[in-house]
Amino acid sequence: MIKVENLNKIYSKNGRDLVVFEDLSFEVQTGEFLSLVGPTGCGKTTLLNIIAGLERPTAGRVLIRDREVNGPGLDRGLVFQEAPLFPWKTVSGNIELALKAKGIEGRNLRELSREFLETVGLVKWADYYPKELSGGMKQKVALAKALAQDPEILLLDEPFGALDAQTRMIMQEELLKIWERFRKTILLVTHSIDESIFLSDRVIVLSSRLKGAREVIEVGLPRPHLPTEKFWKLRTQIWEIIRDEVLEP
Ligand SMILES: Nc1ncnc2c1ncn2[C@@H]1O[C@H](COP(=O)(O)OP(=O)(O)OP(=O)(O)O)[C@@H](O)[C@H]1O
Ligand SMILES: [Mg+2]
Repeated sequence: MIKVENLNKIYSKNGRDLVVFEDLSFEVQTGEFLSLVGPTGCGKTTLLNIIAGLERPTAGRVLIRDREVNGPGLDRGLVFQEAPLFPWKTVSGNIELALKAKGIEGRNLRELSREFLETVGLVKWADYYPKELSGGMKQKVALAKALAQDPEILLLDEPFGALDAQTRMIMQEELLKIWERFRKTILLVTHSIDESIFLSDRVIVLSSRLKGAREVIEVGLPRPHLPTEKFWKLRTQIWEIIRDEVLEP
């Protein structure tokens, strides 16, 4: 579904170049759940933004279904750490905006909006405004909004990063249910190694030193990925890779 080919990204400032990554290549299969982990500043958000079409690579390209990405598109739904909801719109108003972007109108709009709110368990909150919601609820609305767009791909950048540990666990389970039900291709950026193993088929560990994907880890556990011995082994394996960089950025 997604092909990242020999991607380079260099930021230049005051005559100095910052190489974020060099010659980064990987593929994401249709319906796959792939996570990206790596130390802060290694370029996870930059990479997601390039795939989203919000930023241009310095060299290389991203293909989606063999077509080169040249800008944002409705085939990719985005959820970031802080939900960008319209504060002057209610919860259902926010979802309806995403549906309208798809050309949906009239009665269908209300019905579909309700359906997506049901998916994330927020029907009761349809008429509330974002400022009246908790952080977890806001992220659920952001997820419902991304789903309402009916993209083939969900690009998630630390979507649960600002949530407390319990809400985060609930959100992870919700996300898995959504993935299983709608069979989206998901690319998730997370700081949590546990989260990456719990949710994904494969984990890509990015490195700022090597400027590119360092290791691709196959999770290879039966779902749900419960914390068995193999789970802990994977966790240690991933931690060993990024540990040095986290300790000494
Ligand atoms: N617009 C920009 N202009 C210049 N440098 C940038 C820009 N955006 C990001 N960078 C730099 O690129 C590098 C990668 O940033 P990025 O935000 O992609 O990291 P990250 O892996 O998402 O980090 P974190 O885990 O903290 O979110 C950093 O060194 C950052 O300073
Ligand atoms: Mg980031």
